[in-house]
Parts: sequence; structure tokens; C-alpha cells
Amino acid sequence: MAVAPLTFSKTSAPRSTASRWIRPARSGIHGRGVYARVEIPDGTRIIEYTGERITKAEAQRREAQRLERQRRGQDASVYIFVLNRRYDLDGRQRNNVARLINHSCTPNCRAETVRGRIWIVARRDIPAGAELTFDYGFTLKEGRLHPCRCGAKRCAGYIVNAAQRWRLRRRRKAVR
Ligand SMILES: C[S@@+](CC[C@H](N)C(=O)[O-])C[C@H]1O[C@@H](n2cnc3c(N)ncnc32)[C@H](O)[C@@H]1O
Ligand SMILES: [Zn+2]
Repeated sequence: MAVAPLTFSKTSAPRSTASRWIRPARSGIHGRGVYARVEIPDGTRIIEYTGERITKAEAQRREAQRLERQRRGQDASVYIFVLNRRYDLDGRQRNNVARLINHSCTPNCRAETVRGRIWIVARRDIPAGAELTFDYGFTLKEGRLHPCRCGAKRCAGYIVNAAQRWRLRRRRKAVR
């Protein structure tokens, strides 16, 4: 399929939650994911992660509801993003396409918070057709509830932030 050339610059992604760089589709990692429609240069601001700004207390309440859904075997995807020390962002609404981006232990994107807005930015050149991923940044404690299926050679087995992943790898080696 021929794709129209992109006309906006690397740093001027549109304000809307749609982005011409990407398209959603079924993912081999989990459910639906987001894929590059064209080659995306390193450093590109691809899309904004938008949502409802909520307090930490409200985020805890929603997380408890999510765990209850998980316990009942219903859909229990995590869409709440840490915004700052006081607030989180619940990105569950359908027009937030960025909510479909999966986690990987070798991600090709990163999440950047700039003046209260969260952007998904390419951390290397991403070829057309590749699935976009970023590090969800879960702590060891949070990650234990989330087995990782990113398929990376050095996958840590659980969705845990890069700085703590070595602990999981060390444990896996020890039990081998
Ligand atoms: C923000 S959603 C990502 C979009 C999701 N694939 C969907 O279809 O809605 C986050 C959820 O996706 C799943 N997920 C994301 N990355 C994953 C991974 N590497 N391994 C396993 N599940 C993953 C987890 O269930 C997580 O709670
Ligand atoms: Zn992984």
C-alpha cells in the first residue's frame, strides 16, 4: 500500500489523539497494538497519551476495580499513567489511540512528560510495519502481577521497568 508523504515535522505532532505515523491492529504481544505506517525517525513525537486527569486516591480506587475485574476473568488492561506526584492520567477512552501501545523489554519508543502532557517519542528509527512499544515503568511489586509477552530475546518475563529488570533476570538464572 502506498502511503502519502508526511508533511509535519519531527516535533510538531498534531494536538489531536490521531497520528498519521501509526495505525492500530491486532498485536502478537497482547490484544490490539499500534504499528508504524511509515518509517518513523528517531526522536519523533509520535502521539500524545491523553486522558482524564485524576487524583492518586481516585487512581487507587480504579486500580482496585481493575483488580476485581481481573479476579473475575474480565478485561483488566491498565490505562492509568503516572502524570506527576499529585495526579495520574486515565487514558481508557476510545479516542486515545496511544492507549493501545504495548510494553516491551526492548522498546522502540519512550514516554516523555512535558509540561503536564505525555508524549510517545521514537527512541530510534522505527521501520514501517513495526509494532510500537515503550517501557511501562512498572515497579517490581506492580510488575509481578503482569507477565510480559513482548517476545524480546532479553524479555524479563514480567512488565518491570528497565532499571529493576536485572533483578528478575538474576532470579530466573538462579532457579534454572
Ligand atoms: C495500555 S493497554 C495496551 C493495549 C492492549 N493491548 C489492548 O488491546 O487494549 C495495557 C495492557 O496491555 C497488556 N500488555 C501490554 N503490554 C504487554 C506485554 N508486553 N505482555 C503482556 N501483556 C501486555 C496488559 O494486559 C496491559 O494491562
Ligand atoms: Zn518482555
